[in-house]
Amino acid sequence: MKKTIAVLKGDGIGPEVVDEALKVLKVIEKNYNHEFSYREALIGAAAIDATGNPFPKETLDVCQISDAILFGAIGHPKYDNDPTAKVRPEQGLLAMRKALNLFANIRPINTYQVLANSSPLKAELVQNVDFVVFRELTGGIYFGQPRGRSEDGNVAFDSCVYSREEILRVTKLAFEAAYRRNKRVTLVDKANVLATSRLWREVVKEYAKEHPEITLDFMFVDNAAMKIIQNPKYFDVVLTENMFGDIITDEASVITGSLGMLPSASVGDKVGLYEPIHGSYPEAAGQNRANPMAAILSAAMLLETSFGLTEESAAIRKAVEEALNQGFVTEDINRTKHYTTREVGDKVASLVKEMKAATV
Ligand code: IPM
Ligand code: MG
Repeated sequence: MKKTIAVLKGDGIGPEVVDEALKVLKVIEKNYNHEFSYREALIGAAAIDATGNPFPKETLDVCQISDAILFGAIGHPKYDNDPTAKVRPEQGLLAMRKALNLFANIRPINTYQVLANSSPLKAELVQNVDFVVFRELTGGIYFGQPRGRSEDGNVAFDSCVYSREEILRVTKLAFEAAYRRNKRVTLVDKANVLATSRLWREVVKEYAKEHPEITLDFMFVDNAAMKIIQNPKYFDVVLTENMFGDIITDEASVITGSLGMLPSASVGDKVGLYEPIHGSYPEAAGQNRANPMAAILSAAMLLETSFGLTEESAAIRKAVEEALNQGFVTEDINRTKHYTTREVGDKVASLVKEMKAATV
């Protein structure tokens, strides 16, 4: 198979973790006879430094001519505590989501046996947790108009806006996933307060009528925040709007024992984007100590979701699990005995290589 992958390494640890994902993808190409061409482009603080724009036109062009996008991370501390900064790295990510119509963000939350004791929750609560969040990504309070400041600067406002169509298209994807899983969808909202949440309930309820095999329930977001801690095994597919999804996926990711293990996909019209859930972790940037697993697993998700390469994707996931079992982990997982970013990437790459050798 011949495909083009846009590579947006971004900021902080983005470049080094994406390099490990590329290492693994190159083994896949060789082992399974594929030909991927990689096109790098700038985004985030790195793009602001080079061009003044966090999502330059050339980057959009590269994304549009590619079959999928592998993305690292975005964000830099010099912007975080400066509310007056006119251009922010995060604007690049939001602009990209909008320009490519990436309306659904898919964040699987699963655990690994060897990480059960790294979770802030008791091991028995997190063992076998396996759910996926479908977060709407191009609507709601992130993009709604009007937004801004009053003329005197003393009042600020953001609007949460949703249309039926925006709700329906992500709902469809969540239900499709439920069919492949345990056939349960939980809509997380704040319908006791928000008009947009009441529209979500209406649209999702209507859609569910045509899908009687799927069990649908509703949960207020504050309650869901508790449930993720008290009984995370409760969930199968969680469907929610943009801002609630942002918050509960950070919460959900931390119970798995390492933020550094979780990939995500953003999909919409044509080209999908794959990225670790973790941020740019600037404190560790350039030090060869960040966990590359989430980036590597993002590459696996890319192969499966955008290219339909299920065997290749499964090989990567298996290699990651095997590397974990053999103790090839970075310092976030084991403080006393750990490996570097590149060593972990090398290990996964060589396990993928051997795996194919074993089957032929
Ligand atoms: C995420 C991030 C982004 C978001 C930021 C960086 C704009 O937190 O992808 O979850 O809020 O969507
Ligand atoms: Mg977030």
